[in-house]
Amino acid sequence: LTDPLILEFEGRRRCEVRVARGCVDALGALWRPQWRTAALVGDANVLGIHGERVRRLLEATAPRVVVCGFPPGEDHKTRETKATLEDRLMAEGLDRQSCVVALGGGISLDLAGFVAATFLRGVPYINVPTSLLAQVEAAVGGKVGVNTASGKNLVGAFHQPAAVLVDSDFLATLPAKQWPNGLAEMIKHSMIADAGLFAWMEQNTRALARPGEMDDHPLARCVEIKSAVVQQDEQERGQRSILNFGHTVGHALEAATAHHLAHGRAVALGMVLEGELACGVCGLPRPHQQRLIQLLASLGIDTRPPALPFTELVPFLEIDKKRQGGALRMALPLRIGEMAGGQQGYTVEVELERLRQVWEEAG
Ligand SMILES: NC(=O)c1ccc[n+]([C@@H]2O[C@H](COP(=O)([O-])OP(=O)(O)OC[C@H]3O[C@@H](n4cnc5c(N)ncnc54)[C@H](O)[C@@H]3O)[C@@H](O)[C@H]2O)c1
Ligand SMILES: [Zn+2]
Repeated sequence: LTDPLILEFEGRRRCEVRVARGCVDALGALWRPQWRTAALVGDANVLGIHGERVRRLLEATAPRVVVCGFPPGEDHKTRETKATLEDRLMAEGLDRQSCVVALGGGISLDLAGFVAATFLRGVPYINVPTSLLAQVEAAVGGKVGVNTASGKNLVGAFHQPAAVLVDSDFLATLPAKQWPNGLAEMIKHSMIADAGLFAWMEQNTRALARPGEMDDHPLARCVEIKSAVVQQDEQERGQRSILNFGHTVGHALEAATAHHLAHGRAVALGMVLEGELACGVCGLPRPHQQRLIQLLASLGIDTRPPALPFTELVPFLEIDKKRQGGALRMALPLRIGEMAGGQQGYTVEVELERLRQVWEEAG
């Protein structure tokens, strides 16, 4: 993206999105004179690697910078960590003339954004995503929140960031095992909205497979796709649910394996299984499903199902029990680059029995 993307929500809340190598340098330019304090929030890993650089950038403009770290990992994306961060900000005397700068992967962004959403009834925040998943998926859209013992992301808010800086330079230090988590979301974006991006990915699997070798074009496309969807439907009343492609089954897989299956693998397998269903219920052409399977394979993303009986998956699926035998509502593709649309409310009803068949055939 050469020009910043300006997202508008209800015509009044603006979010400026930049995608470019080195664009984190724009933090100073984005800083508003009324903000007196920057709270730089991120997990300890990312702060350890990139915190100093971002702190210096902020110190060049913000009158005061407070750095707040927390331990990495999904186990720490909790109300308790949120409270600890809030207590720290209060102890530092932050007032409403503050801006939170969220630095890190999706966990840091979700947590820091949720702190910003409720601190003194809401202060602005800027997202600086550093994982591929956070850059293409989590940074834009304003969903913030934490996990509870009952499940992931169950407590949260919609709070749009004032700005998002997607700087691919950060990806150079991302551990390789994190890469497929972002790639799976990129394939999802191309499946839901851009057959051209899908074809580009098919032709550039070698560059895509390695952090640091990918140029900004596919990143920017994914950010544009996500931005367009969330602007249309900020609060997920319809269209935003297309971003769930692969995730209805994927989330159940993650939960049923107690998160031993990484998000990227779970979503990849979720897309394959949901794609099979789409072939049956909404006419996804078989060759398109084969291309999806092939692309995942050429990127080295394992889509073999874990050894798990279907019955262990069922408790984690959101089943409509009013339908005899149970049914699921899923976002499904009509073809590469296009999802089942508005008439069906952006989701398609699928009998649970069909998913069982597909699961059994895949295993
Ligand atoms: N808000 C949304 O719309 C949205 C969308 C998708 C996912 N999410 C959330 O995002 C989270 C997953 O995000 P994630 O996959 O980025 O996980 P993460 O935040 O845990 O980051 C992955 C790991 O990589 C490290 N890391 C991140 N960037 C790095 C870098 N540049 N160099 C070195 N290490 C780096 C982190 O410290 C962490 O250990 C989940 O909690 C999920 O619920 C939110
Ligand atoms: Zn996802």
